[in-house]
Amino acid sequence: MFNRTTHWENIYDTKALTEVSWYQQKPTTSLEFIERTKISFDEAIIDIGGGDSLLVDYLLELGYTNVSVLDISSKAIERAKKRLGANAEKVKWIVSDITDFKPTEKYKVWHDRAAFHFLTEPNDVAIYQKTISNALNEGGFAIVGTFSENGPKKCSGIEIKQYSTSELTEIFNSHFNKIKCENTDHTTPSNSIQNFNFCLFQKK
Ligand SMILES: C[S@@+](CC[C@H](N)C(=O)[O-])C[C@H]1O[C@@H](n2cnc3c(N)ncnc32)[C@H](O)[C@@H]1O
Repeated sequence: MFNRTTHWENIYDTKALTEVSWYQQKPTTSLEFIERTKISFDEAIIDIGGGDSLLVDYLLELGYTNVSVLDISSKAIERAKKRLGANAEKVKWIVSDITDFKPTEKYKVWHDRAAFHFLTEPNDVAIYQKTISNALNEGGFAIVGTFSENGPKKCSGIEIKQYSTSELTEIFNSHFNKIKCENTDHTTPSNSIQNFNFCLFQKK
């Protein structure tokens, strides 16, 4: 039977940072959306399914001092920590399946690039919706990026759920107001194009 944790541990065991299709030298859209929220540098940001993405490196460099990274894969987190060296101590690392995550603090920004779309079961989506709205304070921001309706149907060999910007807005509608959505292409290390939708929401 398919096991999510084993799947992702195996990916991070066998593929280098720059070999995975989602690799970005600089996560420009994510950074623009985070800066757009205009939160102060000491407010809490969490990157959901952050893997060993360089987003955390850029956030620290920009001066954010309260960053958490959550991932289902302990190997991904170990890799990110190793890369950051002494700076890793400035980050709160959480190894957890997002559907098991019980936040112990409130966040001002929740960022998720290409993790939410792996939840293809309605029950898991419902858990995610509940977790995200509990984890954010009123006025907090959610930034969610998924493959669009024109993007791939699979990622890392497993099924994902594509979202149009209106479907994404609908998912978070009950607790969030949409601020903006952006359709953007990601070029993979092997030069294929993946179409993403990113939306920025604010908690009601
Ligand atoms: C496609 S990668 C994207 C990584 C990173 N966000 C980026 O943009 O480079 C998906 C990430 O989500 C993590 N992931 C997948 N399912 C998850 C789950 N149920 N809970 C937590 N993390 C998960 C994977 O381990 C992987 O690091």
